[in-house]
Amino acid sequence: MVQRKIIIDTDPGQDDAVAILLALASPEEIDVLGITCVAGNVPLELTSKNARIICELAGKPDVPVYAGCDRPLGRNLVTAEHVHGKTGLNGPVLPDPQMPLQETHAVDFIIETLRAEPPGTVTLCPLGPLTNIATALNKAPDIAERVQEIVLMGGAYFEVGNITPTAEFNIYVDPQAAEIAFKSGIDIVVMPLDVTHKALVTPDRNEAFRNLETPVGTAVAQMTDFFERFDKEKYGSDGAPLHDPCVTAYLLRPDLFSGRHINVEIETGSELTMGMTVADWWGVTDRPPNALFINDLDADGFFSLLTERLARL
Ligand code: RIB
Ligand code: CA
Repeated sequence: MVQRKIIIDTDPGQDDAVAILLALASPEEIDVLGITCVAGNVPLELTSKNARIICELAGKPDVPVYAGCDRPLGRNLVTAEHVHGKTGLNGPVLPDPQMPLQETHAVDFIIETLRAEPPGTVTLCPLGPLTNIATALNKAPDIAERVQEIVLMGGAYFEVGNITPTAEFNIYVDPQAAEIAFKSGIDIVVMPLDVTHKALVTPDRNEAFRNLETPVGTAVAQMTDFFERFDKEKYGSDGAPLHDPCVTAYLLRPDLFSGRHINVEIETGSELTMGMTVADWWGVTDRPPNALFINDLDADGFFSLLTERLARL
């Protein structure tokens, strides 16, 4: 399989952490050029600390980690400590990072990397609000045609919202940024709640992580033990939805996923539906398709892949 060069843009977050671990456990298929951090689940200072904690947990302290935007383009920051805990990585007790944060701003790293790598060879993998991505596109419009594709976690259609009745968290936090990304003309693959709510860490699946009996397996099991309570209370679901790892798993095994190439637009006008991903799933408009909107996965295949790869760390 051809190695795919990626930039992970993230707001760790326990599920971001698992997505990063899955990528770092798959060097034959994925070359992580860098990890760029954004304010989202918790403030930027914590997301950029947590990303380094995860790199060190994976035994990969050489992965460059960059701090990016500390607030959305045009709205106040909304965080999700109620889901992820005060640190954003509640659950396991992990040591503070020893590896440094890079000096370069995340937005400049994204721009410089896309300009340096051959066109169409770098995939952007946003796992949080799209503030860094949109800021890079605003600052350097020339990079849009150089991006291979964007594979992101965000949005919802049939599942509707998890932070408001109509909006998913990543899009809701920075809807203006999301609008810029979805109107950029870049090929986009969307992992919305419609599919991530089918990637549930059931007790058996979490035991499989714990039974790896490795620091990574134990930490992931402890993360999901903490992370699951929000969704179990809200949705009565049978475990934590592993939202962000769907992005990494898609890079490794796209055959595990299915969806439709449709038009997706972002609500940025009405406060009532702010951040809603208006997905034309039924093709009732003449708006041109701009995204592969994933709505299903082979959950057993996903967890077999994830568990096997985590065992490698
Ligand atoms: O709505 C789920 C998304 O919001 C995930 O990326 C989670 O990490 C939070 O950022
Ligand atoms: Ca996230």
